[in-house]
Amino acid sequence: MQSTSIKALLAAEPLSQEVVINGWVKTFRSNRFIALNDGSSLANIQCVVDFEQFDEETLKQINTGAALKINGTLVESQGRGQKVEIQVKDIFVHGGSNPETYPIQPKKHSMEFLREQAHLRVRTNTFSAVMRVRSALSFSIHHYFYQNGFYYFHAPIITGSDAEGAGEMFRVTTLDDKDPPLTEDGKVDYREDFFGKETNLTVSGQLEAEAYAMGLGKVYTFGPTFRAENSNTSRHLAEFWMIEPEMAFYDLADNMDLAEDFIKSVITYILEHCREDLDFLEKRLLDEEKTKPQAERSEMALIEKLRFVVDNGFKRVTYTEAIDILRNSKPNKKKKFKFPIDEWGADLQSEHERFLVEKHFKCPVILFDYPAKIKAFYMRLNEDGKTVRAMDILFPGIGEIVGGSQREERLDVLKSKMEALGIPEEELWWYLDLRKFGTAVHSGFGLGFERLVLFATGMGNIRDVIPFPRTPQNAEF
Ligand code: 4AD
Ligand code: MG
Repeated sequence: MQSTSIKALLAAEPLSQEVVINGWVKTFRSNRFIALNDGSSLANIQCVVDFEQFDEETLKQINTGAALKINGTLVESQGRGQKVEIQVKDIFVHGGSNPETYPIQPKKHSMEFLREQAHLRVRTNTFSAVMRVRSALSFSIHHYFYQNGFYYFHAPIITGSDAEGAGEMFRVTTLDDKDPPLTEDGKVDYREDFFGKETNLTVSGQLEAEAYAMGLGKVYTFGPTFRAENSNTSRHLAEFWMIEPEMAFYDLADNMDLAEDFIKSVITYILEHCREDLDFLEKRLLDEEKTKPQAERSEMALIEKLRFVVDNGFKRVTYTEAIDILRNSKPNKKKKFKFPIDEWGADLQSEHERFLVEKHFKCPVILFDYPAKIKAFYMRLNEDGKTVRAMDILFPGIGEIVGGSQREERLDVLKSKMEALGIPEEELWWYLDLRKFGTAVHSGFGLGFERLVLFATGMGNIRDVIPFPRTPQNAEF
């Protein structure tokens, strides 16, 4: 007999049918009531055991964390809260669990403790809810692009280029790290390495996606990216997933329209399909907020915040306008910004971004037309000669969630930009080819998937929205 998911059973009518379920024990009370969960939803099903029917050896193995197969009859529940329960006929213990040493006890654990148990934390309500929402968001992203005529493009993970020019790359090498071959001037000789050149893990699939957009029209990547930036914050991972759409014949305004529509659409999807998990996460957040001082509490509950994003336009503001606002503002009556904005051209810090979104505009903001100097080499130079067609989308509680731009499609301008930045043409000859053969206006952006999951679930730390986080000094699992 095939087993049924607990989610399906809980929605079924108690017609006294025979059922088989598999799952993990949440609690076992009074040698009589097993609460079993199989990950199909937050809800446990109550399984009622007539303990006189079972030998002591079996009963002894039914502890929190044990994996069981249960045969029984689905009947109307005698207790409150649930429509149905299972009258147990037979129990098979797949694997027991020692209650003395099982780390996930039926009580509240701190997030820090659970990070040390990353292999087991999905057995908690919070993590199972977050990971189901993460899964639904992934699906909705593919669904959105599929419906809008995009092709899913697989960018290489190992690459020879530094797409962002920030030098934050993990090297990929098979050379002997203690005794590598050296060139005449004493540098490591990567010509003898596996690929015959220096290679690294990708920081972005954008450059390759551009090549494919210039043939398939509209493509997107959705894959892992790697950054060796030493940022120990609640918003940075060394390995994170990025969604990067790239569209031929799109200018910056088209790019902004797409990004806004895309984000609204995937959030709408989870509001419609993950309601139970979102309600649970909202309640969890409200409980957590109660422990904070009034001033630090969020003005909106989770679902309201998600609805707000879906129902309101994102405010579009140029970098220059934002700088004017910031120069004339203080984050609050007493405090100045830690990094005062003195000059046009300065890069915005997260305190500035969050001020604009949370205090000034009080809605998601798309900042665009940034100074060329603080942005990557591939961005389209504006007619003023000093700003580029870049856009960042800033979200409440998160800061930057999207970074994108219209790309420089003019060969001569791109070449002189690369020269000024010391990027050798030989390294990106193929990228320059795209400007020689049928170049066209094109644009794209990158959405940090974990930052989206962070926003959607109301979690406080990016380490808690990816199954096995990689951060400096941490790749235990
Ligand atoms: O702004 P970024 O660096 O842009 C790019 O990589 C472009 N090539 C994208 C494109 O135009 N195709 O990164 C894009 C987004 C950021 O806005 C942020 O959400 C996320 O990726 N991100 C990170 N997320 C988690 N941990 C990190 N270390 C991140 N770095 C960037
Ligand atoms: Mg960025």
